[in-house]
Amino acid sequence: MRIVLVGPPGAGKGTQAAYLAKNLAIPHISTGDLFRANISQGTPLGVEAKSYMDAGNLVPDSVTIGMAEDRMEQADAAEGFLLDGFPRNLGQAEALDEYLKAKNLTLDAVLDLEVPEDEVVKRIAGRRICRKDSSHVFHAEYNKPKTAGVCDVCGGDLYQRDDDREETVRKRLEVYHTETEPIIDYYKAQDLVVTIPALGKVEEVTKRAMAALEGDA
Ligand code: AP5
Ligand code: ZN
Repeated sequence: MRIVLVGPPGAGKGTQAAYLAKNLAIPHISTGDLFRANISQGTPLGVEAKSYMDAGNLVPDSVTIGMAEDRMEQADAAEGFLLDGFPRNLGQAEALDEYLKAKNLTLDAVLDLEVPEDEVVKRIAGRRICRKDSSHVFHAEYNKPKTAGVCDVCGGDLYQRDDDREETVRKRLEVYHTETEPIIDYYKAQDLVVTIPALGKVEEVTKRAMAALEGDA
């Protein structure tokens, strides 16, 4: 299956993607995690991306689209993937359509995680991620690690993301409304969107998403 996950910052895309990718046996491709891995390795791409991310803006398409396509090539797009955080504007959605069309492939579904804004703010304020792998995500209250400050998956230190400061979060939400929300209509026109209410326990949201995908298959 080829699936796109959309939703505001803090909706739980990364959290759900980890479970859905495992259940569906497809790779989880997160452009945010790819950027953070480049930042921690100090690559030129990471240095460029960091200035945009810390300001809460999107990294330019000229950098992002190539990086996402390289990662889809590695994964072998024909075998399926779960995209988390890409596409994030209309230019990226069109580029993805062209990329898939050239391979005679299509998307199966776009899952839109719906969460009220006050909940998103609480989720982001308590989020802690792993220094070794930013796809290992916890929450100080809602999804506590077994040992405070230590990643359950790999033992890495947990920390708060630089872009999770309050003023940056406000900017990220604004960018979500102006640049990312229009892709939902773009995909509605292709009859691909399934809205998943994303309040409730992590496993309940996963169940809803799996049921929606199974209904779709
Ligand atoms: P990215 O890393 O993609 O961030 P985002 O979209 O802002 O999403 P988040 O990672 O903040 O949230 P999430 O929905 O994954 O929530 P999570 O599962 O962590 O992008 C970061 C930046 O990179 C962007 O601002 C941009 O600069 C750049 N970028 C990335 N992709 C790009 C692109 N395509 N083009 C241009 N620029 C790009 O959950 C949040 C918290 O809630 C966690 O603590 C979690 O434990 C908790 N939680 C999750 N589910 C629940 C639940 N059901 N109940 C209670 N708590 C929960
Ligand atoms: Zn870890």
